Amino acid sequence: MTDRELLIVVLAAGKGTRMRSKLPKVLHQIAGRSMLGHVLQLAASYKQARVSVVVGPDMSVVATEAGRWASNVSVFVQEEAKGTAHAVLAAEAALADHVGDVVVLYADTPLVTRGTLDRLLDRLEAGDGVAVLGFEADDPTGYGRLICDDSGGLTAIREQKDASVKERAVRLCNSGLMAFRMDGLHNVLKSIGNNNANGEYYLTDMVEMARQCGLQAGVAVCDEDEVMGVNTRGQLAAAEALWQQRARTEAMASGVTMIDPRTVTLAYDTQLGRDVVLEPSVFFGPGVRVGDDVTIKANCHLEGIDAKSSAGVQVGSGSIIGPFARLRPGAHLGEGVHIGNFVEIKNATMAQSAKANHLTYIGDAEIGAGSNIGAGTIFCNYDGFEKAKSKLGKGVFVGSNSALVAPVEIGHGAYVGAGSTITRDVASNSLALERAPQTEKEGWAETFRETHKTPTSGKT
Ligand code: UD1
Ligand code: MG
Repeated sequence: MTDRELLIVVLAAGKGTRMRSKLPKVLHQIAGRSMLGHVLQLAASYKQARVSVVVGPDMSVVATEAGRWASNVSVFVQEEAKGTAHAVLAAEAALADHVGDVVVLYADTPLVTRGTLDRLLDRLEAGDGVAVLGFEADDPTGYGRLICDDSGGLTAIREQKDASVKERAVRLCNSGLMAFRMDGLHNVLKSIGNNNANGEYYLTDMVEMARQCGLQAGVAVCDEDEVMGVNTRGQLAAAEALWQQRARTEAMASGVTMIDPRTVTLAYDTQLGRDVVLEPSVFFGPGVRVGDDVTIKANCHLEGIDAKSSAGVQVGSGSIIGPFARLRPGAHLGEGVHIGNFVEIKNATMAQSAKANHLTYIGDAEIGAGSNIGAGTIFCNYDGFEKAKSKLGKGVFVGSNSALVAPVEIGHGAYVGAGSTITRDVASNSLALERAPQTEKEGWAETFRETHKTPTSGKT
């Protein structure tokens, strides 16, 4: 790896018309993060690098997103899309005072890995003035072809529209990602013309021009999957599938069991401990951290960050979640917590060994260790205007079908009788009951049946 200074230019000016979306293309997400975010995360992994993002006009949302994923990032506007070289030159202010290497990435090519980029940079270290990331295309139609000499050196990149029949037969294609040494090539970049079938300023022309200046050009080859570009929603789904497959493979390699991996959806930042077991159809949105020895049963939805909150979801070691449970932002579960079917938890902490095993909504709450929340309990946390909090101490037992109307506090060891609507605080170790006294009419049922003795035959 080079220790020269590095400037990474990320091209993100394309509108992405084929996405048919009000969102600029590079803000569409893979694994819960924008494609631009994926590329900038990779850029940011080069700690010393400066990063420039080139956006189109009226793309302040893209600029804002860029700031989220990389510090040290400057944004440049390419007023008119006149080609990839023209786009790189939109960052001229950053290029002008740069000494060292330049890498050009595309924000719509989000699957490229650090290892591959390192290999591209290694080519500069090995003496290339320009190095291009190439791949053997199953179907090369539409890509620039990499034209090499007998010794494997790159002589030119020919765009499909400008290529001869013989050149079109070449399957080694240009991914678009490129690295070059700034010294000697800054002027070359600036002098690229637009005399081609598209009338665009092609960054790819740099290869032939560098050769004319006596510099060497080379290719680093990677898998086609890694450099797939996203132009349509279909390709977005294909990129998501590739990303998921990669992430699941990594998770399993680090000690996670998945019964049916294809049905598990991870987010870009999902953290799973050792000996986690994921049953089929578990979905992770962003911001979820799961400790060791946790089992998440089938059909659970965990999401630590949404449009309103980034409080995260934490699942403590040894917990059992689901089936059919929903953990929302701010669900912070301690060790050995049990969450059962049809339980939703939002902005609530549950301390060690607390349980809510069936049909429950817990919102805006603090629940002490070892407490048991009975089936059908609802934490009434919202009055249509404001949220209020419930606090339950250690070892509280809430009977089934209770409503806890916040704000309310229930002390350590207290019991709430089943079917109660609790609106006032309950002292430690008390029983709170809120229901009409039971009445009993002896023999009522017999009399009832007598008076209804009309025949029912023929009816079901
Ligand atoms: C480019 C390459 C081609 C390569 C292909 C890989 C050139 C001339 N051609 O072609 O060799 O096989 O990528 O996908 O470089 N962009 C801007 N501003 C512009 C033009 C493009 O920001 O004025 C951005 C686009 O948003 C996109 C990237 O640069 O992210 C590539 O542009 P695109 O028009 O898709 O280039 P291709 O014709 O696909
Ligand atoms: Mg393209």
